[in-house]
Amino acid sequence: LENGLARTPPMGFNNWNATQCGADFNEAMVKSIADIFVARGLKAAGYQYVNIDDCWAEQKRDSGGNLVPNKTRFPNGIKAVADYVHSKGLKFGLYTSAGTKTCNGTGGFPGGLDHEQQDANLFASWGVDYLKYDNCNNQGVDAQQRYTRMRDALARTGRPIVYSICEWGRTGPPRVWEWGEPVGNLWRTTGDISDNWSSMIGKAQANRALAQYAGPGHWNDPDMLEVGNGGMTAAEYRTHFSLWAVMASPLLIGSDLRKVSDETFSILENADVIAVDQDRLGRQGTVLSSSGGKVVYSRTLANGDRAVALSNETTSTATISTSASAIGMGGSASYTLKDLWSKATRTTTGAISASVPGHATVLYRVSRDGTSQRYEAEDGTFSTGT
Ligand code: GLA
Repeated sequence: LENGLARTPPMGFNNWNATQCGADFNEAMVKSIADIFVARGLKAAGYQYVNIDDCWAEQKRDSGGNLVPNKTRFPNGIKAVADYVHSKGLKFGLYTSAGTKTCNGTGGFPGGLDHEQQDANLFASWGVDYLKYDNCNNQGVDAQQRYTRMRDALARTGRPIVYSICEWGRTGPPRVWEWGEPVGNLWRTTGDISDNWSSMIGKAQANRALAQYAGPGHWNDPDMLEVGNGGMTAAEYRTHFSLWAVMASPLLIGSDLRKVSDETFSILENADVIAVDQDRLGRQGTVLSSSGGKVVYSRTLANGDRAVALSNETTSTATISTSASAIGMGGSASYTLKDLWSKATRTTTGAISASVPGHATVLYRVSRDGTSQRYEAEDGTFSTGT
């Protein structure tokens, strides 16, 4: 969606993966997350949006038809929380559904279908900067139509609001990635992630086939991060974070940052990996080769470098290899490989290879040596410089 927003994939937080509708989901939590964003360096690392998910509302609209914040979780309302988040120099996001009710099983909360403008106006008045719009209880109304209506309602508020389509092609064809570009800033490409290896890698496998649909302002969304929730090993979480970065995916932290380890922060704050995700060219990486669970991804970056992920989906150590010419960088006498996790650099004449433990990923930034860099612009033209 060309609304001037999400020129790189959104970065932030969403409580769903950590709390779902548990009692922990409340005003105190959201404020703490904003505090931690500042105190622990996440804001400085680029994380910006503090978003809340389903279950923030009362089960009924008020007599004027307005949504009402849940009195227990948000006794001071949503605007008070948004104001707090804004006071930290961060942005605030909210969730609702393009149906008569949201997706939470126990009763559901009122959704936006046929209330698009009223709800959009209310959200704008609260200072909402990001809306995740889900697809449950949609009464069989065409998805593209429903999502376009809310896009237009948001635009009419005059407030810049990132628009996240939480629909993953269930109702297609056409699938959401085929109609999403002019409608939303991002759209889900998969069902809900859970905090285990097979769920996470399944999302990557589905999402990596859709690279052609992503670009500045309109991203594929393989769902929020599970890093730090405890169901995967550190190596698996590094794979998760590496692949999301190579795929230009939104980086929405899904763990309760009040409870995570220092190791979680070090994964989430890896500046080199974040730079891959946020590369301004905005081109999603693609799979160059995949055989027997040994997968090579390559992503072209704005300065002509490539991010190369050697990803081992098997459970035992394997050597995974590609080459400078295979990633489209042939012709130089030598190249520098920087391992974005270990930070080690080395020189190669063209071979790109690593021994990768099971479920791990080696992520390299590959640059040409001795030549000036080529800077590729969004329109595909190149300029040179150093
Ligand atoms: C759907 C979405 C999730 C979450 C829940 C909330 O399942 O895909 O991300 O928002 O609804 O009920």
